[in-house]
Amino acid sequence: MKRATVELKTALGPVTIRSPIVAASGTVGSVVDFAGAGDFSVYGAAVAKSVSSDPWPGRDAPRLSSSGEGMLNAIGIQNPGIEEWTRQVGPRIGNVPAPIWGSTVGHDAAGFAEVATGLDSAGVAAVEVNLSCPNLDDGHLFALDPKASSEVVAAVRSATDLPIGAKLSPNAVDIVEIAAAVQEAGADWVVLTNTVWGAGFDVKTRRPKLRSVVGGYSGAPMKAIAMRCVWEVAQALPELPILGCGGVQSGEDVVEYLLAGASAVAIGTAHFAEPRIGRRVIKQLETYMTRNGIATIEELVGAAEPW
Ligand SMILES: Cc1cc2nc3c(=O)[nH]c(=O)nc-3n(C[C@H](O)[C@H](O)[C@H](O)COP(=O)(O)O)c2cc1C
Repeated sequence: MKRATVELKTALGPVTIRSPIVAASGTVGSVVDFAGAGDFSVYGAAVAKSVSSDPWPGRDAPRLSSSGEGMLNAIGIQNPGIEEWTRQVGPRIGNVPAPIWGSTVGHDAAGFAEVATGLDSAGVAAVEVNLSCPNLDDGHLFALDPKASSEVVAAVRSATDLPIGAKLSPNAVDIVEIAAAVQEAGADWVVLTNTVWGAGFDVKTRRPKLRSVVGGYSGAPMKAIAMRCVWEVAQALPELPILGCGGVQSGEDVVEYLLAGASAVAIGTAHFAEPRIGRRVIKQLETYMTRNGIATIEELVGAAEPW
């Protein structure tokens, strides 16, 4: 996408996208059903909600709540399963003015791989591997364990030739270790990050804000948490492309992620309050670039100055 004097295209390994902003999984529905509310023409890609091999019912309500400037959620990846997803979404993928990436989730490597095959046949442009959802009933988080993460990514790698992004968790003790494991297993980039574990209580009822008590925390306060992950991985694994994700609300937030080492940035929770946020963020990014004499996104990637 070329506007005024700045070039917004960027690359995540083998994939070149026309704009450095991506719509984050789970915050724009299946993408096709959000197309009327959002404005996908300014995004480099939009990621559909994660889908599993069989239908998942999701968790009991309440499963969304505010907490400070952020949001707690415990949706539990409610989804219709890959077969039904393909029927509902597949034929409409071409109607959205942005490449659609699928997101696979599962209880084991074979389940992730089966979904990746289905997403590939449905016509998505890339596959995100959601190793990091904190809302699964069994509490299993692949992204805390390098071996489990690499087994899943290797299975998805064998199931599809599409580009693969591995979505990691800020709850990992050593994010670099996990990133190195998924890179070795064939991930083309890492998504840093999914939500961080959080909890909250209603002081009137004294009940937990979420039925599951613990859920995923997202939104503005996530920015510093995910940014630390981006920085550490970019420093340790400079050849591994990074899609930054967490708390993005403005063009300056995008610039910060790029400086930390991300090549592109996903916007999530902000879509709920402002479905057309992408257009504002891109305008702000263009203004920053023009005012600072920056012609390309590449010039900003990893360009933080040392003290
Ligand atoms: C309601 C909700 C549902 C989400 N569902 C998914 C999902 O299905 N798959 C996934 O990979 N991430 C999911 N996420 C995580 C977001 O994609 C994103 O990684 C996270 O919210 C941090 O970014 P943000 O602070 O911009 O929201 C979800 C987030 C929210 C708030």
